[in-house]
Amino acid sequence: MSENPNDKKSRKPRAAANKADSEISKPTQTESPLSFDTRAVDVEKRKFITIATACVGAAGALGIMAPPFVGSMAPSERAKAAGAPVEVDISKLEAGNMMTVEWRGKPVWIIRRTPEQTAELPKHDAQLSDPGCDVTSQQPTYCKNSTRSIKQDIAVIIGICTHLGCSPTSKMQAGGDMGEAWTGGFFCPCHGSKFDLAGRVFRGSPAPTNLVVPPHQYLTDTTLLIGVDKAEA
Ligand code: FES
Repeated sequence: MSENPNDKKSRKPRAAANKADSEISKPTQTESPLSFDTRAVDVEKRKFITIATACVGAAGALGIMAPPFVGSMAPSERAKAAGAPVEVDISKLEAGNMMTVEWRGKPVWIIRRTPEQTAELPKHDAQLSDPGCDVTSQQPTYCKNSTRSIKQDIAVIIGICTHLGCSPTSKMQAGGDMGEAWTGGFFCPCHGSKFDLAGRVFRGSPAPTNLVVPPHQYLTDTTLLIGVDKAEA
């Protein structure tokens, strides 16, 4: 039913309603103190977001991600995946071959050496920069041995050159374009570093140290877990 504008009874409540309406809508007027404060808050909020974004950007550039709020302190799934250990089935890896997996964004080579290739390792110790693995940062203590490995035939090595970070090329076969004396290993084409099949660097290479052996362990005879020492599991 429509309201009669001439009806005095209905006019009074309308006036009261208008008054109430104007009181409710007041804060949305641009001249109102609340409206002024809202703009100020918006400016402050914008400043905060700008600063927070800059801080996160700087932290990211340093490889650090400091979570700004308690609610987001748990690492993201991607972050967990990036740092999580990697389980690898090596049952199909044949002697004389290698496979590559990714761990923490880095290529990790898993090499199954033939008995002949393993037997060659100690023969060229005199040509190496660090044959005894004395630079302890380059491998876990359980790989500080003549093959730099847990199992004599299986090498686990991060495939990043210790000179400037190129990824060396596989030269697992003896001889070939590496010369007659070459018994198998890796060659970094960037500046010519050479490594043997245990990731040890040959003297005269620009790479200062052996390739890194990551922490790892065997879950079964044919299952490797890369990223965790046995003691930490
Ligand atoms: S990065 Fe490998 S030799 Fe320079």
